[in-house]
Amino acid sequence: MTDLPTRPPPDEAAERQPRTRASAQRRIDQLADEIARHDALYYLRDQPEIPDAEYDRLRRELEALEAEWPELARADSPTRRVGVRPGGASFAPVEHRVPMLSLENAMDEAEFRAFDERIRRLLGVEPPVEYVGELKLDGAAVELVYEDGDFTIGSTRGDGRVGEDVTANLRPVNGIPARLRGGSVPARASIRGEVVLPRRAFQRLNRVREERGDEPFVNPRNAAAGSLRQRDDVDLERLRSLEFRAYGVAEGLPRSVATQTQALETLRAWGFALSDEIALCPGPDAALAFHQRALATRDALPFEVDGTVFKVDRLAWQDEIGSLPRAPRWAIAWKFPPQQESTVVEAIEVQVGRTGALTPVAKLRPVFVGGVTVSNATLHNQDEVERKDVRVGDTVVVQRAGDVIPQIVQVVASRRPHGTRRWQMPAHCPVCRAAVVRLEGEAVTRCPNLDCPAQIENNVRHFASRGALDIEGLGAKRVHLLAEQGLVKRVSDVFRLDVATLAELDRMGEKSAANLVAQIERAKRTTFARFLLALGIRHVGEGVAELLAGHYAGDLDALMAATAEEIDATPGIGPTIAESVAKFFADERNRSEIAALRALGVTWPKGERRRRGEGPLAGKTFVLTGTLPHLAREEAKRRIEDAGGKVTGSVSKKTSYVVAGADPGSKLAKATELGVEVLDEDGLLALLPS
Ligand code: IVH
Repeated sequence: MTDLPTRPPPDEAAERQPRTRASAQRRIDQLADEIARHDALYYLRDQPEIPDAEYDRLRRELEALEAEWPELARADSPTRRVGVRPGGASFAPVEHRVPMLSLENAMDEAEFRAFDERIRRLLGVEPPVEYVGELKLDGAAVELVYEDGDFTIGSTRGDGRVGEDVTANLRPVNGIPARLRGGSVPARASIRGEVVLPRRAFQRLNRVREERGDEPFVNPRNAAAGSLRQRDDVDLERLRSLEFRAYGVAEGLPRSVATQTQALETLRAWGFALSDEIALCPGPDAALAFHQRALATRDALPFEVDGTVFKVDRLAWQDEIGSLPRAPRWAIAWKFPPQQESTVVEAIEVQVGRTGALTPVAKLRPVFVGGVTVSNATLHNQDEVERKDVRVGDTVVVQRAGDVIPQIVQVVASRRPHGTRRWQMPAHCPVCRAAVVRLEGEAVTRCPNLDCPAQIENNVRHFASRGALDIEGLGAKRVHLLAEQGLVKRVSDVFRLDVATLAELDRMGEKSAANLVAQIERAKRTTFARFLLALGIRHVGEGVAELLAGHYAGDLDALMAATAEEIDATPGIGPTIAESVAKFFADERNRSEIAALRALGVTWPKGERRRRGEGPLAGKTFVLTGTLPHLAREEAKRRIEDAGGKVTGSVSKKTSYVVAGADPGSKLAKATELGVEVLDEDGLLALLPS
């Protein structure tokens, strides 16, 4: 993980300069207009343009300027209001009898501690104050009114005083009872909470929208808000995939209720779903622990959560502390580090893969997001670039969540400089200059030249990689050098290298040349599955290679002679893969390359029938997290699998072991939470056959 500092965005840089009154006024106006524009995009169109982190920075800059120049603050300043007043006549207005406020943010521990100190100062108490820790669900805030126990009006937050009547759209939402449960219900109850869309449902919804040619939603929150504001042709399925989680009672709380904890219990008793994690924290240290736990489990939650919320538990104290126009002073939202940031596309390069596929890759101005510095993001293919219309010079929103590779979410249209041009896939391979082809109905553009150095290089890299023949010392740089020198033109050439030739290479020397040759020699004795994987057949990854190896029990000639239909009969193999395998072995060039490899001494045990799930670790499931001191992740995975174990990506109750190294992610926390046994590298090695 590189820890490059990020450039402050221009707005923040401007904030640091001393200002004259006139320039402060100009900047205040600019910011107020800019924030109002983003509010409209966010609340009225459900299509925000910039990441939350950047929006928060704009707000903070404005708050700081207004604090310094109070007389310059505009009466309509966005720092004094919540959201925006709903426009248009689509939904009837609903007045909130108790205003729906927003929350102040804390960005780090120091800001949270400052909040705690302010609370104690306001209350004049010395001992720690109890807080209820809740998750900050990232969805749409709504109010549900129940009259004599029946759900009668549901509305959006709007500007906090007036929202929109979306009762009909709220009725099918999960977690909203049509009637309050329990014997004594108040004449009128007003419930506050968040409507969220689970991540999975969000992905499904966007896939359908894209197929239909509709603009996809940029995040689950806007998809939830957009779903609630459907008017014509209301999609019932979409509403049914939404979930409501209650977090407050604005009217109708029984008199006996004295704390937020009890308020939440009342909500539960009335039949509402609450958020997954709630804890009473007896002081700021416990709150910190709650926040860290929530952060560690963030990616494992079904919904997007963008922070934690802490509320003073005692309701009488909440009243005593009071509220400001925009937000209560007795609560705070402690935001998680952002998973979306904006940055600039400095170039779009094209990479040529092993199969000749051309992939456009955006080269980004480095930006710290989701815990790492991101400087590349794949753009997948021509269609994807066209759909998002990403251009060199554009400011884009980059997302990196969990272990997922960075994605470009969208272009910030208003920041496009003049003179940019639509990006086009080049007509020629950037490496060998061959004319590229894109077959009808395929998304991928390819370089058709099998002798393209890029393809050769990638093939050889794949051939030598850990999951395949695992030739230590033959990494990307060496392969590049060998290909560049013309020493390796096809994979079999690897077995033709000798110490004398290698020793001549840049920075190689006699000793490393001898080491490499020894490694190459060692790699000749392999397994059938590894050999099949190493060939680089399209659609044949590790799993498929193992299925084929198991079925054909080491008999390459039988596999090479098989028709697509026969291969299709292998359990677990479908027609696309079978077709691809048969086509590969029918190609004369591949056949002669395989003959060469065998003649050069590549072998594997025949009759090898071992498949996944056989061996000393059969039936055991492992999850790997963090960096192990000696074993690379791929190596650890391979050795577990070679011993019959399974490696999966997420921790559940069924996980047998979590193997944790340095800088473990949320998986370690999850393991501790579920009581799954945690091993270090030595612990793992002890389980593996030597
Ligand atoms: S309490 C008066 N609790 O965050 C207190 N809000 O940025 C108002 N939110 O408008 C809110 N989870 O939409 C509260 N556990 C939680 C929340 C929560 C999410 C949202 C809510 C609010 C926004 C403020």
